[in-house]
Amino acid sequence: MALPLVLHVLLVAAAAAVARAPVAQAWGVEGHYMVCKIAESYLTSEASAAVKGLLPESAGGDLAAVCSWPDTERRQNPWSTPLHFADNPGDCKFSYARDCHGTKGEKDMCVVGGINNYTAALMDSSSPYNRTESLMFLAHFVGDVHQPMHCGRTADLGGNTVLVTWYTNRTNLHKVWDDKVIGTAMNRLYRDDLSTMIGAIKRNLTVAEKNEWEACPSPTTSCADKFAEESAELACPAYVGAEQFSNLEDEYFFKALPVVQIRIAQAGVRLAAILNRIFSGNNNSRLQTI
Ligand SMILES: *[C@@H]1O[C@H](CO)[C@@H](O)[C@H](O)[C@H]1NC(C)=O
Ligand SMILES: *[C@@H]1O[C@H](CO)[C@@H](O)[C@H](O)[C@H]1NC(C)=O
Ligand SMILES: *[C@@H]1O[C@H](CO)[C@@H](O)[C@H](O)[C@H]1NC(C)=O
Ligand SMILES: *[C@@H]1O[C@H](CO)[C@@H](O)[C@H](O)[C@H]1NC(C)=O
Ligand SMILES: *[C@@H]1O[C@H](CO)[C@@H](O)[C@H](O)[C@H]1NC(C)=O
Repeated sequence: MALPLVLHVLLVAAAAAVARAPVAQAWGVEGHYMVCKIAESYLTSEASAAVKGLLPESAGGDLAAVCSWPDTERRQNPWSTPLHFADNPGDCKFSYARDCHGTKGEKDMCVVGGINNYTAALMDSSSPYNRTESLMFLAHFVGDVHQPMHCGRTADLGGNTVLVTWYTNRTNLHKVWDDKVIGTAMNRLYRDDLSTMIGAIKRNLTVAEKNEWEACPSPTTSCADKFAEESAELACPAYVGAEQFSNLEDEYFFKALPVVQIRIAQAGVRLAAILNRIFSGNNNSRLQTI
């Protein structure tokens, strides 16, 4: 599309100004809900009871009901904003030492640091951190780290400044991955019913995949590093065909959908594995590191 350069620059600047503020939600509400619903179904009875015991009353006993709480919290208290992502210089890689910091270089302030922080807090009964909030943060960040655009390029704020149309609607590439693909899938394939989509994702899961995803192969890096490395690698092909001002339609949708579905499944399985390890001493060596 041949927009005058000035307009282009203005649009990008406008998008940059609002990005990472309320717009960047990190999987939309539906994505986080699905991740947490899938996780709940794989909890041991001990972990399930412990989780229920920590949930705020508003959750009605359902972890999935509060899995978007950190996005609300962030709007009120921006300190936690950097904990939702871990962008990179554009090399499709995640390196903790290089990429896990806040905008002013604050160490550990990225989504991987957040997962490690709240996992450690929940494992340590003497931690001063609020356990209800630690649980809600952990559940949310394990979702976020699986969304490829949460490990996208720093230069475009993880796709937030890449302005595109999704069929007829103007949006940006980050939001396409947070909720547009999910919304279109719901509408076209799952009768606008979230539980139908969750069921389809779960039925697709094999035992071998589940075992592989729970595994944490290296005793020296945390599992969360691996999740971010995978997302950074998936973000690269996600930028292809999605240049500034592209019109994204069926071709992009059918390329992105399987990735979105598998990342939601992986996030759910891994969140359950982490919570089982925390709350039921499920001491399977595969889950040992985190
Ligand atoms: C760890 O959690 C505490 C309590 O919420 C927070 O103040 C701190 O910034 C967190 N750090 C990271 C890296 O998540
Ligand atoms: C812990 O956090 C929850 C959710 O924000 C809040 O409702 C509760 O009052 C907090 N508990 C304490 C002891 O501060
Ligand atoms: C475009 O936006 C409208 C209004 O929010 C919404 O109803 C519709 O589903 C969207 N279409 C697509 C393809 O996302
Ligand atoms: C099922 O798995 C296939 C192969 O990985 C994938 O293409 C498809 O999108 C998956 N469907 C769902 C609903 O997860
Ligand atoms: C895990 O297993 C080891 C050895 O079997 C044991 O020492 C440790 O206490 C266990 N941890 C938990 C959380 O149950």
